[in-house]
Amino acid sequence: MTRGGPVIAVDGPAAAGKGTLARKLAEALGLPYLDTGLLYRAVGRLALDAGQDPAQPAERFAQALTPEDMLRKDLRLPDAALAASKVAAQPAVRAALVETQRRFAARQGAVLDGRDIGTAIFPDADVKLFITASPATRTLRRFLQSGGDPAAPDAQTQLQAMEDALRARDEADASRDSAPMRVADDAYVIETDTLDAQAVLAEALRFTRERLVAARG
Ligand code: CDP
Repeated sequence: MTRGGPVIAVDGPAAAGKGTLARKLAEALGLPYLDTGLLYRAVGRLALDAGQDPAQPAERFAQALTPEDMLRKDLRLPDAALAASKVAAQPAVRAALVETQRRFAARQGAVLDGRDIGTAIFPDADVKLFITASPATRTLRRFLQSGGDPAAPDAQTQLQAMEDALRARDEADASRDSAPMRVADDAYVIETDTLDAQAVLAEALRFTRERLVAARG
């Protein structure tokens, strides 16, 4: 381990519960936490603010990103997710954000969640987790998380629209040429359809501790 602490990569598709897990994992291990999706969401937002189609070259927004941009309240909205996915497909945008992510973990190590942490940003991460669930489960979680009412008369229509958007984003993230989302060869996959957040954390912690102890020899 050449860094100041371990690097834990938490990758997976949209709304799989990566953020919740990564935050709790970081807390349990006493490590800093970075939600790398926020970087792409913020770049997408800046493109939208400028009246630009996020599919058009957005490198300049990535280069101009400030810590304040990451704190905006509108980064979690669905239009920011879609814009994020569009700017994230651009190699120049990804290249502009690599160093920020690597530097974040340099001093103390870190837990980072995203799509390409274990494959492209930290191929040598100490621990790699890939968190996933079926599209239906992930859609329902995101629906409830965003205040959706399952008893609303149009709940089924809303859920279907959300699932379509989520599948389209997963497809775009997994099929792009630049650092596509994929399971790293040495990642530990946790299927969370039948696990609650506490059970996912327990499983992730068990695996992480085992790996860290083994690495210490
Ligand atoms: O919260 P959710 O899983 O829906 O998305 P997110 O993690 O905030 O990421 C939003 C979008 O940013 C993704 O759909 C990806 O296109 C992109 N992203 C990426 O390409 N690489 C990362 N390390 C993180 C996010």
